[in-house]
Amino acid sequence: MFQNQKVSYSGVQPSGNLTIGNYLGALRNFSTYSDDYKCLYCVVDQHAITVRQVPADLRRRTYETLALYMACGLDPEKTTLYVQSHVHEHTELAWILNCFTMFGELSRMTQFKDKSAKHADNINAGLFTYPVLMASDILLYQTDVVPVGIDQKQHVELCRDIATRFNSLYPDTFTIPEPIVSKSGMKIMSLAEPTKKMSKSDENPNAVVYILDDKDTIIRKFKRAVTDSDTEVRFAPGKDGINNLMSIYACFTGKTMEEIEAEFAGKGYGDFKLAVGEVCADALAPVQQRFVQLMADKGALEAQMKKGAEEASYIARRTVSKVEKKLGFVQLR
Ligand code: TYM
Repeated sequence: MFQNQKVSYSGVQPSGNLTIGNYLGALRNFSTYSDDYKCLYCVVDQHAITVRQVPADLRRRTYETLALYMACGLDPEKTTLYVQSHVHEHTELAWILNCFTMFGELSRMTQFKDKSAKHADNINAGLFTYPVLMASDILLYQTDVVPVGIDQKQHVELCRDIATRFNSLYPDTFTIPEPIVSKSGMKIMSLAEPTKKMSKSDENPNAVVYILDDKDTIIRKFKRAVTDSDTEVRFAPGKDGINNLMSIYACFTGKTMEEIEAEFAGKGYGDFKLAVGEVCADALAPVQQRFVQLMADKGALEAQMKKGAEEASYIARRTVSKVEKKLGFVQLR
């Protein structure tokens, strides 16, 4: 579709303040593709309403997520950055794909099982069909690669299955996308319960380091991180807390586990936790500075949303027309 250029596509929900899990597992990796791929990154506000949101917070976080995309190094001149609800083809294609997705497939999604356990009073149909909307996001743009954290891999695999099923009935409709999960940072764990994923919807703010936390807060949170009763900084089974902190340190410094073990040999957990906090805060400082500048001009962010939506709509419209034609819907000119 783009003169043989490959497409990179991903999205982030504006459902909470973004964490270093979102940063290391996804956002930071988006710009890897900027030079060689056509890149589209979306603020997926429609996904966010599968769980109840406070409207003013959802609106604010939508601006913030777009600003964070740019603050993390995505250049809107090279990359299409937009908001999902501004491009109506996402829900249009999602309906069609619903008719090519099996109930059993959706029932097996681990995120659905987790979220329905967490929100037992609101197990709505949107929560159940959420992966179909995500498949629509990806397939609309004839995507080749989807950079995501490991928790989203199952959804991208379902998207592949839906696309393959559709293509077998209507050949050459969709590109089959590949999930790209970076080795480091694919699953950053909670600082309070290191067997659980760090999540922006966690109710305990000490379990989570937010991209916008200030240096003192970051250091305090790392100092309080749950570890074990050992004292050696060593990557080993059963040392979930330390393993997680070592992974975070590795992500920010590029060091291997062996190098980190050597660096902290003979030093205690206290020194190590302080070092993790410092490298994290130092890496986030320029992102935060840029974020503040971008948020100061809402008009410019809105202009960016408009430009991104126009670019995305143009491509999305072509895919929906192609799909509707193949299905036998009457096309009016
Ligand atoms: P979301 O908003 O939960 O998370 C955004 C991205 O951050 C990654 N991530 C993590 N990576 C490592 N460690 C963590 N603790 C961590 N927490 C989150 C996620 O894997 C994700 O890549 N359904 C998606 C959003 C979406 C999407 C899409 C993604 C909607 N449509 C199309 C790709 C393509 C979600 O809820 O991500």
